[in-house]
Amino acid sequence: MRTPLVIGNWKMHGTSASNHQLLEQLLPLLKPDTQVAIAVCPPYPYLSQVKAMIGGNLALGAQNLNMQEKGAHTGEVSGPMLKDTGCRYVLVGHSERREIYGESDLIIAEKFAVAVASELIPVLCVGETLKQRKTGQSIEVVSSQIKSVIQRNGIQSFANAVIAYEPVWAIGTGETATPAQAQEVHQKIRELIGEYDISIAETLPLLYGGSVNASNATSLFNQPDVDGGLVGGASLNAESFAAICQAAS
Ligand code: PGA
Repeated sequence: MRTPLVIGNWKMHGTSASNHQLLEQLLPLLKPDTQVAIAVCPPYPYLSQVKAMIGGNLALGAQNLNMQEKGAHTGEVSGPMLKDTGCRYVLVGHSERREIYGESDLIIAEKFAVAVASELIPVLCVGETLKQRKTGQSIEVVSSQIKSVIQRNGIQSFANAVIAYEPVWAIGTGETATPAQAQEVHQKIRELIGEYDISIAETLPLLYGGSVNASNATSLFNQPDVDGGLVGGASLNAESFAAICQAAS
């Protein structure tokens, strides 16, 4: 039995005042007894602010980490620092990191290793571009992104991890994968993990991300291999995000 999980990715949005307002609106809307794990990933400067306001089944996550544990890396933030700040999750290999900041599969595998070593739960983001989908390469692309992490870190590194399938063409575009498209890829991901370790495959939470909103969440989360969502834009609105969390329960 997998506990549903919904993670809000705030990206590079917010101010102290807007974060405070968002959480003040959100917290009363989240049902304390729900069997859903929830997290929000604010930008680094606001991790402590958010940590101080949340609790219960709402946890803290970060959007990125450095591939080294410490050292002379001006402007970077390490896994141990995120752990120390109270993070439970960290996104690894978001498509914006891959595309805009040139993070390769190798770098992402290193970051995943540091997340695990820092006792953070890595949320490995994978997904194909529109061109790759149109040429029938979705499964191949996603599989190779996952395999590179398995090759570097071993399948046991997924024992306390999350994979988020986020088709690049669906992120921030308002275009969502259909529930059937999401289920097809999620099922393949679970089968792939199962080739290495069947019990990890059965317990690994697989999130869908890409224009998830209050209206499409239920049909996506109803799919047998979709265990929740990684939510960008809609996580900045308390009512939408609460409704998405409710849809996962
Ligand atoms: P979106 O972003 O929900 O705004 O499409 C999802 C993500 O990038 O994690």
